[in-house]
Amino acid sequence: MDLKNAVVLITGGTSGIGRAAAQMLAQAGAKVAITGRDPQRLQEAASALGVVGIQADVANEADVLRTFREVKEKLGDLDVLINNAGIGVLKELTEMDRASFDEVFATNVTGVMLMSREAAKIFKERKRGNLINIASTASLRGAPKGTAYYGSKFALRGMTECWRAELRKYNVRVFLVNPSEVITDFARRAGFPQIDNPSKLQSEDIAHMIKAVLEMNDRGFTPELSVFATNPVD
Ligand SMILES: NC(=O)c1ccc[n+]([C@@H]2O[C@H](COP(=O)([O-])OP(=O)(O)OC[C@H]3O[C@@H](n4cnc5c(N)ncnc54)[C@H](OP(=O)(O)O)[C@@H]3O)[C@@H](O)[C@H]2O)c1
Repeated sequence: MDLKNAVVLITGGTSGIGRAAAQMLAQAGAKVAITGRDPQRLQEAASALGVVGIQADVANEADVLRTFREVKEKLGDLDVLINNAGIGVLKELTEMDRASFDEVFATNVTGVMLMSREAAKIFKERKRGNLINIASTASLRGAPKGTAYYGSKFALRGMTECWRAELRKYNVRVFLVNPSEVITDFARRAGFPQIDNPSKLQSEDIAHMIKAVLEMNDRGFTPELSVFATNPVD
């Protein structure tokens, strides 16, 4: 697709991967809107990047419906939805509490479903569209402490396959992108230590791949893409 003037909505665009993708796609000429829950972070990111900021929680259905109304009013018909917003809780099964588990699934699974449902209505009507789900290599295999986060990303990968099967006949390209470890705020917010060094993936690397899969001619698409650091050193 041609990114020039394409209308792109990115959830969780105030930091990390979403922010880098918003910057790169806007630089390529796309009309970009980002969402996030924290109003100050949202305002700062939107004005720094020169994109539309919409304060919204993907897990809140009223916020989701308002997000799509605002995108239509401010930017026009949606061409690309990037479901990037995600949170992590890493706890052993015997330590898992219901509230943490539900919180992770509300954003990483239910929120993605709500956003994608509204986008899919638009895409089916327009008989074209692009849906990118940012999962993780956590969607590919389990690990200790992965019940909530890895479980949510497995669910996302499963939903992605269903949506691809439903929407392909409407010329909708449904992508799954699986980053491995990327240096962002994510680890700190999820409460686990992360060592930053130049051998590890940066948000820009994932943004680069998002841009690349979108830019391929609409006659084809990359169903699933995993991104690894070549030789990450801790
Ligand atoms: N970093 C990694 O190593 C890594 C690896 C694989 C996959 N991923 C995935 O990549 C995606 C982006 O993560 P990141 O590393 O860039 O993390 P990040 O820097 O923490 O960014 C997360 C973004 O999502 C927003 N967000 C969180 N919950 C939200 C909600 N319910 N509604 C709307 N916005 C919400 C955050 O803003 P607010 O908190 O203000 O809402 C923020 O803008 C996630 O899906 C994550 O699972 C990350």
